[in-house]
Amino acid sequence: RRVVVLISGNGSNLQALIDAQSHGELGGEIVAVISNQPNAYGLKRARDAGIDAVVLPHREYESREAFDGALIKVIERHEPDLIVLAGFMRILSPIFVQRFYGRLLNIHPSLLPAYQGLDTHARVLADGAKEHGASVHFVTEELDGGPVVIQAALEITEDDSVETLKNKVHSREHLIYPIAVKWFLEGRLRLGAEGATFDGVPL
Ligand code: GRF
Repeated sequence: RRVVVLISGNGSNLQALIDAQSHGELGGEIVAVISNQPNAYGLKRARDAGIDAVVLPHREYESREAFDGALIKVIERHEPDLIVLAGFMRILSPIFVQRFYGRLLNIHPSLLPAYQGLDTHARVLADGAKEHGASVHFVTEELDGGPVVIQAALEITEDDSVETLKNKVHSREHLIYPIAVKWFLEGRLRLGAEGATFDGVPL
């Protein structure tokens, strides 16, 4: 089973997936990593692991649709069973989402459906929320709104800051993303007309 990972930055989630693969715990192979940012550190992580690392700079395309069209082509060349968004900081057009519908996972730094969008840690703190966390979800046309497949929660303490929350959430992300990818590649996780299922049971 073949996986393509899309990144824009550090790629610590990509690293967690690479590590899971090297321990035989991913249930498939990462065949390519694609970044819209030429300087993304995750590209080095991919190359160090012997994975094809592709740069596709969005600035070189005149529209979102043109970029997404080019991205679709690069992805399809690698014939993936699953496309994993791991800190890919681009909103994907409906054409893209439809093309790979049911084969697209994303990770988001909040307990969805709470705190969709950016700056989740600061917003959680500003609200005085008691808990926070990370969610893996299927990507649909609704931004950060697709069906959730796994979450990890953490308690917020008085001394938490944006920085500590960021670190705590990241460590949870690195635990849950490889699990979700493995479930998908084993055929246990599906996105149907009724939403996501796990072993045929609605989530
Ligand atoms: C993660 O916090 C993820 O939830 C969000 O972007 C961040 C990516 O971090 N979508 P990294 O590049 O995997 O380190």
